[in-house]
Amino acid sequence: MKYTKLVAQLFLFLILLNACKDSGTGGTEDEVLEPSLRNSPTYPVGYAIQRQHLNNRSYIDLLREQSSSISAEYEMKMSPMYNDPNAINYDVVDEIVDFAELSEIRVHGHALLWHSAVPSWIQNYNGTDAEFESIIENYVKDVVGRYKGRIASWDVVNEAFDDGAGNPLRNSVFRQKMGDDYIEKVFRWAREADPDVLLFYNDYNMVANGSKLEKVIAMADDFLERGVPIDGIGFQMHISYDWPSETDIISATNKVTSRGLKIHYSELDIRVNPNATATSYNAELAQRLVNRSTFIFNLYKSLPEETQFGITWWGVKDNDSWLRDFWENPNEWPLLFNDDFEPKDAVPAIIDIFE
Ligand code: XIL
Repeated sequence: MKYTKLVAQLFLFLILLNACKDSGTGGTEDEVLEPSLRNSPTYPVGYAIQRQHLNNRSYIDLLREQSSSISAEYEMKMSPMYNDPNAINYDVVDEIVDFAELSEIRVHGHALLWHSAVPSWIQNYNGTDAEFESIIENYVKDVVGRYKGRIASWDVVNEAFDDGAGNPLRNSVFRQKMGDDYIEKVFRWAREADPDVLLFYNDYNMVANGSKLEKVIAMADDFLERGVPIDGIGFQMHISYDWPSETDIISATNKVTSRGLKIHYSELDIRVNPNATATSYNAELAQRLVNRSTFIFNLYKSLPEETQFGITWWGVKDNDSWLRDFWENPNEWPLLFNDDFEPKDAVPAIIDIFE
């Protein structure tokens, strides 16, 4: 084991040991738990995190108090894990999974195949298609198999469908080299590697883009009919306080649950200032977040229990949000906690839903 890896693991272990002591984990059974997003919900509530957060005591405390599920924002994608063609790198993912296990937090794997996180040696692969396919098969089986029983669920394929109504599948390297049935192949490999893990297809704009939703539902129906393993659909839910409409969210959600499939609101963030008119957070914006998130959490609570998988926020604190850096939008406050780890008004409002 490399020295730096050993030091990183030791560091993580000491932080966790300390956090366990302070938060009273392992205390008496009749201990009364404070209402929180971790303790109250009937379904898991989670966040996307990064490994580096686990060096920070404030994140660790917050996650242990307010989360029952985590996704990796970046580090479980193929490009960080398989940058070196000679070896899949498990160091970072191991640390995230160790943390979650010690903290009794579920891990949702995100994502095995995504056109946007492909290592360059795979993107530019110049061997045969059969060799390409066996590399992907080994990757999927190795990753899912390694975390069998420890990672509860995977986004098996992310964003495979085109936005336009015409050509159904995005022309990713996976489609080019493995054929139009590549999604099915990957779901089958994942199931072979772990018979119990939940398998999701995940995509964005599933509510507003009716034609994309139709394509995804048609694929799911076909899978169900032919016995291709699929357990649920992830709606990313990068939404605004006033878009899409409540009726559209309800009807898109029902299309999934009416088939008995689970639904995961997998990357929730709520733009409260979509026209960038405000330059600082204020009471009106805070109220927008309260209204929208309570609508979402109430709706989710009303779904048939067997279709509930959970709601994952795409980040913990506003200043972690990809809307700030990736979309270069400094005046957005789309998440549940402020830059100082303090809960915004939406937190108690959501907790009330579960009381
Ligand atoms: C984004 C992350 O938030 C960014 O930090 C990263 O640079 C790019 O990916 N849909 C997805 C997520 O499925 O994986 C994306 O996450 C956001 C859009």
